[in-house]
Amino acid sequence: MKKKKVLITGINGQDGAYLSKHLIEKNYEIVGLLRRSSSYKLQRLDYLNIRNKIKFFHSELNEYKNIERIILETKPEIIYNLAAQSFVQYSFENPTYSFDINFSSVLNMLEVIIRNGLDTKFFQASTSEMFGNSKLTSQNENTPFNPTSPYAISKLSSHQLIKNFRESYGKFFCSGILFNHESFLRGREFVTKKIVHGLVNIYYNNGPIVKLGNLNSSRDWGHAEDFINAMYLIMHKSRLPDDYVVATGRAFSIRDFIKKVCECMNIKIRFIGKGYQEKCIDIKNNKILISIDRKYFRENELLKLKGNPNKIKKKLNWKLKYNFSKLVEDMVKKEIDNIKSENSIFF
Ligand code: NAP
Ligand code: GDD
Repeated sequence: MKKKKVLITGINGQDGAYLSKHLIEKNYEIVGLLRRSSSYKLQRLDYLNIRNKIKFFHSELNEYKNIERIILETKPEIIYNLAAQSFVQYSFENPTYSFDINFSSVLNMLEVIIRNGLDTKFFQASTSEMFGNSKLTSQNENTPFNPTSPYAISKLSSHQLIKNFRESYGKFFCSGILFNHESFLRGREFVTKKIVHGLVNIYYNNGPIVKLGNLNSSRDWGHAEDFINAMYLIMHKSRLPDDYVVATGRAFSIRDFIKKVCECMNIKIRFIGKGYQEKCIDIKNNKILISIDRKYFRENELLKLKGNPNKIKKKLNWKLKYNFSKLVEDMVKKEIDNIKSENSIFF
């Protein structure tokens, strides 16, 4: 029987790699979009041992004609749009580019589907950042949006577009409103990976002090593998197209995350000082592990996000395999294995 085909943009990112693995195991043919580079670094795909099972096409997401050609040539059953300028901080430095990739390029792909009369379904990776500093203690599909960064505004524009085109053209276009999700494959500039890698690097490699921004903001952190399963259920199990919040329903601060990492590594720590002078030290020898650097504070800090995943749990029977402790344990263990390995990789 002919395999069903999916096109994944951002295949080389954290989610793209895990989603590819998930769908390969379910016997899908995977077409992956990569942006051209003088040196391909496909470590995430190699780590999961799936590079050879993917057919690659090369394009920037905003090369409209090329993207149109790839969609028409491959005619996928589903496009999972995971490519994005995904770093909130950078969207303040380069809002035009962030809009180009996170909004205009999405509009282009949807137009290709609609104008060519394709049946291709479309998954959009929307974000909890769209809620901004919400007055509600947790956010669900009906919570008003109040974005606080160019990244969040660009993603909200695409989110609204997906809904509008779904209702206007009757297309199977869906968004997952994804809260933060992490793993060993997380990019190095995101705070969880930065903390885990930084602390493991200090103890196993004599690495430098980790410098962070606001330790008091909190996030609803899940494991990327659970979130990939949610994306799959939204596109493959749902009868009607819809948008779903994907979250664990629990929130922890950056400070909590640091404590849990140290607990997993059997390091006893203490926080000393206040504000920009605050430090995290190893109690055993007073060694400074973490200090604060103003440059990691955001222009407009989003202090707390906590999702309410009731809809996806009830309607699609989504279940979580990882809680906060298991997520951190998994990240720490894989980071230690990686740093000890002769072929260690770093994203
Ligand atoms: P990621 O690791 O940053 O991956 C993003 C991918 O997009 C990378 O493969 C990157 O390519 C690709 N990309 C960036 N700009 C591109 C361009 N101009 N043309 C083509 N490809 C481009 O992100 P992720 O964590 O996997 O997240 C996946 C999606 O979910 C993103 O859309 C993100 O905004 C959204 N999201 C993520 C989270 C989360 O917590 N992880 C939460 C909410 C929403 P390179 O490999 O070449 O850099
Ligand atoms: N990156 C980073 N680096 N963040 C820091 C640091 C630091 O040194 N110190 C403190 N933080 C705080 C940030 O201010 C923010 O409040 C929190 O840690 C999380 O930051 P990130 O890990 O960069 O993630 P994010 O929440 O801004 O964005 C991620 O999640 C979104 C979903 O809510 C990204 O994956 C986005 O693409 C995604 O949409």
